[in-house]
Amino acid sequence: MRPISVLSWIPLLTVLPSSVQAAYSLQELWAGDDFFDGWRFWGNRDNLTNGATYYVAADEAQDVAYTNAGGNVVIKVDNTSQLAPNGLRNSVRITTERAFDIGHLFVMDALHLPYGCSVWPAFWTHAVSWPSGGECDIVEGVNLQEANGVALHSVAGCFAADGTGVPTGELTATNCDHTVNANQGCTFEDTRNASYGPEFAQGGGGVYAMELSSEAISVWFFPRNEVPADLRDSSTSPDPTTWGRPVAYYASSGCNINQFFAPQQITINIALCGDWAGQPGVFSPVCGTGTCAEYVADPSHFDTAYFEIASVRVYGGGLNTRYTNGTLAAASGIIGAIGGGDAGAMATGRPERREAFELDSAQ
Ligand SMILES: *[C@@H]1O[C@H](CO)[C@@H](O)[C@H](O)[C@H]1NC(C)=O
Ligand SMILES: *[C@@H]1O[C@H](CO)[C@@H](O)[C@H](O)[C@H]1NC(C)=O
Ligand SMILES: *[C@@H]1O[C@H](CO)[C@@H](O)[C@H](O)[C@H]1NC(C)=O
Ligand SMILES: *[C@@H]1O[C@H](CO)[C@@H](O)[C@H](O)[C@H]1NC(C)=O
Repeated sequence: MRPISVLSWIPLLTVLPSSVQAAYSLQELWAGDDFFDGWRFWGNRDNLTNGATYYVAADEAQDVAYTNAGGNVVIKVDNTSQLAPNGLRNSVRITTERAFDIGHLFVMDALHLPYGCSVWPAFWTHAVSWPSGGECDIVEGVNLQEANGVALHSVAGCFAADGTGVPTGELTATNCDHTVNANQGCTFEDTRNASYGPEFAQGGGGVYAMELSSEAISVWFFPRNEVPADLRDSSTSPDPTTWGRPVAYYASSGCNINQFFAPQQITINIALCGDWAGQPGVFSPVCGTGTCAEYVADPSHFDTAYFEIASVRVYGGGLNTRYTNGTLAAASGIIGAIGGGDAGAMATGRPERREAFELDSAQ
């Protein structure tokens, strides 16, 4: 092998554009006994989506939010209590105290995701101020949904497009505006059953990752036997440009990320029934006769309604990272073509977005 001299190495570094120097480094690792440090529990009924849940406070959480014997974190629905008619079942909604700006990578390594009739779980991010600061649902499903659905929700003007040939998921709704189609959002459906429900669990789960960059919001799902080496544990710096095509890809050309996305908190919750899972037209076709509210009363229906999580991680330092359809722009010398217009947008967009966020927060 030809030794690389210091002299030949330095000039190479100096010609690389700074916009591709970013390497992700671990900022937050939530796992094991300390998992719940840095998260807030809701401590109220589901007063946002009209679900049949009471989201426990931290001091009520020992039966539904804990670390199991294997060192993984369980976040679950109560499956022991028979409820009175229209009663509320104990469940969990937790949110990080910290919000993460553009330039962060969000990762969840899970062995099991909640599923079953009436169950509506999500692993998602959202601004402190909603909807102006945006929302990204990384994992979401209802009832017996077979595969994961990814969605953005925003104010008017943010769209998903299929034209890039990048996402592997099926684009099922393009307008992210929360006022359109009863807040359906702009959605990609994974085509793999291993992304959710029983097949996710049977395959040993897997890893979800969401990159929030000025360039795009991208979501990947890797079944356990396909997890890239740089995501298997928290010891390495992940490089999304090596992961192949994401399931969901929202390019800044359709949704100006700087404009529509403020710093994001992470929320993990399991709703029951409510505005989506409990709608008769959604519940009854797959979950049979009876109402969702009646279904919730029986605790034996909730043995699969739990997350089992090995870790949630957030990496930072990737402010200018970009996904360029599987190729690293710097290496191929096409940075000018791909990144040329965006350098300006980055320079001007971030301060504008910050101002918007500060105004929102003050309201
Ligand atoms: C919902 O409950 C949360 C947590 O108790 C509370 O902070 C919030 O004000 C409530 N929102 C509404 C709309 O009632
Ligand atoms: C991205 O890659 C796919 C093949 O994986 C190709 O069909 C598509 O044309 C590429 N898109 C761009 C913008 O290069
Ligand atoms: C997913 O599961 C459903 C229901 O079991 C089945 O009908 C469908 O063929 C599966 N899809 C794939 C891609 O395996
Ligand atoms: C509750 O569900 C768990 C699995 O999530 C199961 O191990 C346990 O036996 C269930 N409890 C009851 C009382 O059925």
